[in-house]
Amino acid sequence: MPETHIIDGKRIAAEIRDEVRVDSMRFREAYGIQPRIVFILVGNNPASEVYVRNKGITAEEAGFSHETHKLPANTSEEALLDLVRSVNEDSRSHGLLVQFPLPQHIREERVIELISPAKDVDGFNPINAGRLSIGKGQYFAPCTPAGVIEMLHREGIEVAGKHAVIVGRSNLVGKPLALLFAQKNSHANAVATIAHTGAGERLGEITRTADILVAAMGAPLAITADMVKEGAVVVDVGMNRIEDASKKSGFRLVGDVDYDNVKLKASAITPVPGGVGPMTIAMLLKNTLLAAERQRRS
Ligand code: GUN
Repeated sequence: MPETHIIDGKRIAAEIRDEVRVDSMRFREAYGIQPRIVFILVGNNPASEVYVRNKGITAEEAGFSHETHKLPANTSEEALLDLVRSVNEDSRSHGLLVQFPLPQHIREERVIELISPAKDVDGFNPINAGRLSIGKGQYFAPCTPAGVIEMLHREGIEVAGKHAVIVGRSNLVGKPLALLFAQKNSHANAVATIAHTGAGERLGEITRTADILVAAMGAPLAITADMVKEGAVVVDVGMNRIEDASKKSGFRLVGDVDYDNVKLKASAITPVPGGVGPMTIAMLLKNTLLAAERQRRS
């Protein structure tokens, strides 16, 4: 069997970040506008703090201006909504990202629905989700699923006519990814299936029909080799901490795919870390530049 191709998301993401940096410089030179993204972080979830800090650093490297509003965990829903309104109205800010999860007392859907669709670089607002579903009009696709499609395209992996099975039905990844796969364009045109825990014992039967198998259910190492067709392309969106006494930290990061065993069967596979993860921020930059370009024209 030919050697399994390991998809290097870190390299592809760096390539995209570089392209965005050049394009944002040109945009700034042409129109005197510096793309600007605003982050809102509520509370002190350590993982969220790291994510937002990294997003800020990456935005800076791309030549964007950025600002992070750090709000205490006891911030009221109304106070957060007021801040969202003020960013919506600030014409200098092109992108707005409210980091999730939010504290329990704040209804995430209220926040998502208030973010201006034109600034919603996460692609979570129902207007953006709806336009993605319709496949028409201006919208932002959520960054992780868009990153999966972009990664396959840049790797020269043909998607058209293939059966893409996505395990996981989240609004962040599973559902939008299925729509992106099924869209009628040159990067997609696949037959898409959303599989999930509701499949019960039939899950393996379904995943074995996948030419492209995407694991996005948030269950460590759950996709085992017997669930994968020989020669399939396997994309792992999972990011889970599992205990590992051999590590100084006491844990290690694993995906939703049993990588070591699945690798022996797949024709191509994404590692964790260094696969889909870095693509998410790269696509966020792409969306932010796109937001600035669209807002200039509007
Ligand atoms: N939390 C985990 N992933 C994401 C993301 O893509 N966007 C936001 N806003 N919060 C997240």
